[in-house]
Amino acid sequence: MEKLKVITIDGPAGSGKSTVAKMTAAELGWIYVTTGAIYRTLALLLHEAGVNSDAINSHHIERYISFINERYRQESASGKVFIGEREVTQDIQSPIISKLSSVFAQDEYIRDKLLPIQRKIVCDTNGAVVDGRDMGTVIFPSAPLKIFLTASVEERAKRRYKELTLEGEKIEFEKLVKDINERDFRDSNRSTAPLKPAEDAIILDSTYTSQEEITVQILHLAVAKKLILSE
Ligand code: DC
Repeated sequence: MEKLKVITIDGPAGSGKSTVAKMTAAELGWIYVTTGAIYRTLALLLHEAGVNSDAINSHHIERYISFINERYRQESASGKVFIGEREVTQDIQSPIISKLSSVFAQDEYIRDKLLPIQRKIVCDTNGAVVDGRDMGTVIFPSAPLKIFLTASVEERAKRRYKELTLEGEKIEFEKLVKDINERDFRDSNRSTAPLKPAEDAIILDSTYTSQEEITVQILHLAVAKKLILSE
């Protein structure tokens, strides 16, 4: 059977997985899929509809998941995210949506419903680099190359701080560290598909290593796994 051409990159918020996944995909000519954007878009839709996590029910979930199923689109090269004609790339990055996406992601029913959508985006492609929290453990358990990317909380908060201030968001650094710690805790301790390395994942640390260097390491691993012939 032909090898599934998927590289999974899981890791906590701010570990650099999206940038690394995007660069790796560009080098390979594969598509890049950041699954956090799907959870974020769902959180945005629910938030805008005034549905909060206490009042959420299966009717809301069905309605907005079918919205995602029919209208969600990610541009591989630019990383832009659309729901129908509306571009939501910036809106889904706000601190409130970061928090809500992590809260809604604890819901087993939501995770079950988003599973086939994530697999569908990848099937029929020449190859895909996918990032998220459960890519290697749940969504693509047979992926031939699985990376778990980490970095210290302080370094991750610094990166996020830079990104958000560049986008014009006003946020205190200490608050960001607190938010990241809370999000790590929620993502790692939920009962369904918690954030953890797959048993066969290779753990890379980006605290002191540039994202370019991490990308080179992943490309070396892809060659070693015979996923590609050479870099
Ligand atoms: O990767 P990100 O920070 O954009 O993801 C936003 C939230 O979505 C994250 O806090 C947890 C959730 N998520 C998830 O549970 N599983 C995924 N595969 C991707 C994201």
